[in-house]
Amino acid sequence: MSRLPAFPIPVKADPAPAEEALARHAEPQVAVAGIEDIVLVASGKGGVGKSTVTVNLACALARAGKRVGILDADLYGPSITRMMGTDRALPVDDEGRTLPVENHGVWTVSVGNVLPPEAALVWKGPLVTQALTQMFHDIAWPELDILLVDLPPGTGDVPLTILEQIPVSGALLVTTPQKLSIVDAARGIALFHDLDIPVFGLVENMSSYICPCCGEAQALFPDGVAAALARRKSVKFLGGIPLDPEGQLFADGGTPLVVSRPQGAVAQHFVAVAAEVVSAVERERAFRARDSDEQLRAEHEAFWENLLGD
Ligand SMILES: Nc1ncnc2c1ncn2[C@@H]1O[C@H](COP(=O)(O)OP(=O)(O)OP(=O)(O)O)[C@@H](O)[C@H]1O
Ligand SMILES: [Mg+2]
Repeated sequence: MSRLPAFPIPVKADPAPAEEALARHAEPQVAVAGIEDIVLVASGKGGVGKSTVTVNLACALARAGKRVGILDADLYGPSITRMMGTDRALPVDDEGRTLPVENHGVWTVSVGNVLPPEAALVWKGPLVTQALTQMFHDIAWPELDILLVDLPPGTGDVPLTILEQIPVSGALLVTTPQKLSIVDAARGIALFHDLDIPVFGLVENMSSYICPCCGEAQALFPDGVAAALARRKSVKFLGGIPLDPEGQLFADGGTPLVVSRPQGAVAQHFVAVAAEVVSAVERERAFRARDSDEQLRAEHEAFWENLLGD
């Protein structure tokens, strides 16, 4: 029986690669002024709907009265300006500070606001860090409850740089029900678990197709695969978002579905995910408050010492 030649690059399983990679150049994380919670929207695979979920989620949160922003960290393929209708230069205030652009009640910043639409977007290591630092720290963000960060696909330079430098409250993973996407979503979950970043949940985009004639939902891929992954990884399954052919038209026109058709079935799914994000963020805030309360912490430590000492 013929055998495959050995893989030419020696690959060694590393028990905690992400942790070690970040620890190598660990610098203290710097909080972003005025922003309470930063939530990453991630996926393993490209094109599964991260940006669609980000803009609809942001609009749903804004409609629920939250002060919301979007930072488009997809330096290689920014979509937020087009999807949010914020495709213009960033304004500058009287003190010379650069501001985000607001539309639909959401504040947004993207490289799409500063670079011409057809410019090649070539970013190498130090430039990635520089661009992200500017977007987080050099923009005069207004006071926000939640800043959603739309990531590029995968577990590359951009998410690692953010996780290294910015205190993040949690992450949402987006996948389609297709096996190819599910496998990569599992890698994304593993990255956040390795780094102790709470995963707020898994969203299954394009889970079904709602027939425009009869209104019946039809599954596009085998049912339940994303929910099974969520169970296996002990992550909350936040439900499926149906594929809506008109969603794309509205996205291209700068108005997310949650704004253009707020009563529609698909918009209602986004509203439900937004409610889950709000409760996850509040839960994390409560944990943070408990951790920063000296007395509570001392009591907690004493409890464990007593228990272990017995
Ligand atoms: N539920 C949906 N119904 C209809 N169209 C959708 C839906 N979700 C996403 N799309 C469309 O699919 C395409 C890809 O979506 P999107 O850009 O949000 O994916 P992405 O994961 O952000 O991609 P990338 O990895 O390139 O950043 C877009 O044209 C978007 O309008
Ligand atoms: Mg995108």
